[in-house]
Amino acid sequence: MRLVIVAGARPNFMKIAPLVHAINRRRDSGDTSIGFKIVHTGQHYDEKMSNAFFRELNIPAPDHNLEVGSGTQSEQTGMIMTRFEKFLQENPTDLVLVVGDVNSTMACTITAKKLNVRVAHVEAGIRSGDMTMPEEINRIVTDSICDYFFTTSEGAGKNLVQTGAKEESIFFVGNTMIDTLLYQTPNFKKPAFIPTEVKEGDYLVLTLHRPHNVDDPQKLRGLLESINAELTRHNVRAVFPVHPRTRGVLSKMDVTFPAIYLTDPMSYLEFMYLIKHSRGVITDSGGVTEETTVMGIPCMTLRNSTERPETVTVGTNELIGEHHDKIPAKVQVMLEGGWKKGRIPALWDGKTAERIVDILKRL
Ligand code: UD1
Repeated sequence: MRLVIVAGARPNFMKIAPLVHAINRRRDSGDTSIGFKIVHTGQHYDEKMSNAFFRELNIPAPDHNLEVGSGTQSEQTGMIMTRFEKFLQENPTDLVLVVGDVNSTMACTITAKKLNVRVAHVEAGIRSGDMTMPEEINRIVTDSICDYFFTTSEGAGKNLVQTGAKEESIFFVGNTMIDTLLYQTPNFKKPAFIPTEVKEGDYLVLTLHRPHNVDDPQKLRGLLESINAELTRHNVRAVFPVHPRTRGVLSKMDVTFPAIYLTDPMSYLEFMYLIKHSRGVITDSGGVTEETTVMGIPCMTLRNSTERPETVTVGTNELIGEHHDKIPAKVQVMLEGGWKKGRIPALWDGKTAERIVDILKRL
């Protein structure tokens, strides 16, 4: 099988790494039934948003980079489609494998299907129900036309069946991002630039990058002021690795938040170390809620909905909405040790990529 593995943005890289390694392990033991090429769309291109992840996760350099860069939603999507179409025309392919819910996922799915190339989606079927999120549109479009669905939960499979997907094309396999997390745990690396005032085991981690939370400077300021005030009251600090999108908005704001340390985006191994040694996490990311669930770290999500409900019903995540009014009481619970304890969702066991490769070989 001639497989093309697509990755475009930061949260894709930890999802493809274990798949690449699983296929290579088989090749090394003489099974050459799957040959693959990696296509990087170039959606993320900064050293810290992309290259650092390939290096740390030991992913081979992409065979091809579409180098699309940033743009509006449609500019980026259109550019990926135009360039991926050319790639597929020049490189005969049996199956395209896409992961996650970023623009690259949807754009490459549409392109492949229009050239009658089959598509498999890893992390299929999850839904937030919030159509204002570009990711939700990406998920719905991708799943409405792709051929095979690899899911992280039973619920995701049910969502797919409800929208007409055939049961025999849905495979509940677990979570490849957790494969990477478990495999890399011994390699987590203390971040180089944490100030001495931030004591190991005694800080919170903050991440914010959703357009809803960060694009409006007033709203972002309200969230950060509220978090800063509560941290100050408890004499605790937060470390905030800042996404480039958020950095752009913050750089135009004339305020400081003394209890919150802003840093550049961290590499994977540093960021995982940071979370593992924290007292809790405040985030608007979806992937981070899965990682905190597996590490047993308290997590509050500044969103009204989640496409990953098991992180709330089984894991350590709690949705507290996008308004800052709930932050003080919840930070207090987090810091006083009263946060709920979680469990690890079914099949998030580090063996998902092996299951996927077994299935790919049968397709
Ligand atoms: C994308 C994904 C989001 C994911 C996030 C993780 C979509 C719709 N969104 O959002 O699901 O959670 O990645 O990071 O695909 N930028 C840089 N350097 C880079 C990349 C981006 O400076 O390497 C800046 C650019 O100014 C760009 C902005 O960040 O305009 C946003 O980047 P974009 O790829 O459009 O979306 P993200 O917000 O990163």
